[in-house]
Amino acid sequence: MTNFNVVPNRRNPNNYNKWTYYPKDVLPMWVADMDFPAPKPILAALHKAVDHGVLGYELPSLALKEVVAARMDKLYGWKVRPEAVVAVTGIVSGFSVAARIACTPRKGVLIQTPVYNEFHEVKNNIGVPQLDAPFIKHVNGNILSYEIDWDIFEKQIKKAGMFLLCNPHNPLGIIFPRKDLLKMAEICIKNNVLIVSDEIHSELLLDDNKFTPMAKLSAETAKHTITLIAPSKTFNVPGLFCGFAIITDKELRERYEKEVNHLRLHVSSMGLFAARTAFSGDCDGWLKELRRYLTGNRDFLVEYVTKYMPEVRTTIPDATYLSWLDFSQTKIEGSPFQFFLKNARVAVSEGRIFGENGEGHIRLNFGTSRKILEQGLGRMRKALQSI
Ligand SMILES: Cc1ncc(COP(=O)(O)O)c(C=O)c1O
Repeated sequence: MTNFNVVPNRRNPNNYNKWTYYPKDVLPMWVADMDFPAPKPILAALHKAVDHGVLGYELPSLALKEVVAARMDKLYGWKVRPEAVVAVTGIVSGFSVAARIACTPRKGVLIQTPVYNEFHEVKNNIGVPQLDAPFIKHVNGNILSYEIDWDIFEKQIKKAGMFLLCNPHNPLGIIFPRKDLLKMAEICIKNNVLIVSDEIHSELLLDDNKFTPMAKLSAETAKHTITLIAPSKTFNVPGLFCGFAIITDKELRERYEKEVNHLRLHVSSMGLFAARTAFSGDCDGWLKELRRYLTGNRDFLVEYVTKYMPEVRTTIPDATYLSWLDFSQTKIEGSPFQFFLKNARVAVSEGRIFGENGEGHIRLNFGTSRKILEQGLGRMRKALQSI
């Protein structure tokens, strides 16, 4: 049994991370990594590599690609050939490369807002238009839910070269139902738009939720899709920067690989070693316990907000360790992020970085011990009461 109630101290002053970025009295609940150590088999694989002593260049081996392909089969019954797997230096690099091959100054990137802040950087980094398809927001009591606005989606897709899907969704915690995936795929295929499905959170499922990769829908969908996955979020090894693009269409994959090679996006050996162990199945017991713990944290958060901060609206995420909170009905003036940093000494993520419709909201990372979560929420509650 892993004790997720105890988390290591990350406040080493020589480090620059989630815990040292802000002053010492600030509780960090912002950037998306968890406060838990990675599972033991991954740490053992890394120790083994260090003990060997030679840290030479390492390329993604066929054995590693086979492990990734086998995981897709095991989790979803999705049969992909090992050669369809391309190693990338992370998911942000992965979708940036995709934008370089699929977008032009006339054909932009379609994103569904609010969404992960790096999705908003593609326009600047690659120099292509950004096309927003904001979600429709629903409020029931203090519970938030979001739905796709199909009219806007269909309108914007006409100007797109690529649709960058976030599934499960950061920061909303949505796992898109099959009917939505089918409709998105149909619209993209009809308009000849490449689907890039960022599925980095696909194994961080809460409750007993299930997940279907976009490309698993049909052979036709797979042909139009680049699937991006990584062990980084699930097994808490994001600092090792290793992800995978799964591209079943040979021609598309060759264009993608050519671009990866042009940019010399080589993955570090430690990232490759960690990924192989992470996806081998050896860490699945740990993952099961983690999901249970995170589900408990999610429930604790929703109950806490509903009971003690009823004017605050919250999502009930189905996946991820991220919650999305709306402070527009509270007395906070201006940015809730600044308010809590100043008055609660809690650092969350500013809602506006996820899109214009993120104004008045924050993203809170609950991938931590229950005690730290309770402490953070307690500080926020007190700050709200003091207005
Ligand atoms: C949806 C999503 N994609 C990508 C990333 C980052 O991926 P990487 O660090 O592999 O570039 C994150 C991190 O929070 C994320 O939430």
